[in-house]
Amino acid sequence: MTVAAPLAILSALGEEQQGLMGELTEAQCIPYAGREFWLGRLHGQPVVLALSRIGKVAAATTASALIERFGASRVVFTGVAGGVGDGVHVGDVVVGTGFVQHDMDASPLFPRYQVPLTGRSVFDGDAPLTAQLLQAAQVALADGGPLGKACVHQGLIASGDRFVNGREESAVLVSSLRAAGYAPLAVEMEGAAVAQVCADHGVPFAAVRTISDRADDTAHVDFPQFVKDVASLYALRIVTVLVYSLSK
Ligand code: ADE
Repeated sequence: MTVAAPLAILSALGEEQQGLMGELTEAQCIPYAGREFWLGRLHGQPVVLALSRIGKVAAATTASALIERFGASRVVFTGVAGGVGDGVHVGDVVVGTGFVQHDMDASPLFPRYQVPLTGRSVFDGDAPLTAQLLQAAQVALADGGPLGKACVHQGLIASGDRFVNGREESAVLVSSLRAAGYAPLAVEMEGAAVAQVCADHGVPFAAVRTISDRADDTAHVDFPQFVKDVASLYALRIVTVLVYSLSK
């Protein structure tokens, strides 16, 4: 019997994965590369769940393992992010259409933000999978959440190995990106790395981030509580709707 290649669901944090684990059937844990990969089914769909870990290299290692060792057919990422776009508020959700590394700078050898030897600064989310994820987020959050109405945005996500925790720091990061023609809605620490790994392997990738802070001086304050109360709930709801829609 051949088993269909699983959908990989990468969570940034354990709290976000917990809800999905509660729904996982035929669960089997496989340790690999110092990580735990959970194989099983979500609402009948074969899946593999993993934690990305934090930062671009850790997330790239996890993504490579999902593809090479576990044969992931598609990779979907759920996590939290700092909102840096106009009108992107705490409790909103951003579905990434493209991913840029805000700390990539090999200038003057290559243009700032360009990933050397790829000719690309932005790695796009897979269009059909991203459209399905966007629709899943809209359906899942139609009635709002613990913080009331949740706007679902779509656009560029900027990743880097830095928790952006200052008004000025955030302003410099965003204005530098804008000067190069990139207008990010959110900042986080993994998405662009996973997007690049998926592009290298030709595996469709999509990501959704719940906005936990505004990447300003108070970004770290309510972070753990937010993840527990809001982001984990959103991740579960969105992935549940997505998995149902992919099974049709
Ligand atoms: N993830 C959530 N908030 C973030 C921030 N302000 N910077 C980087 N990653 C984040």
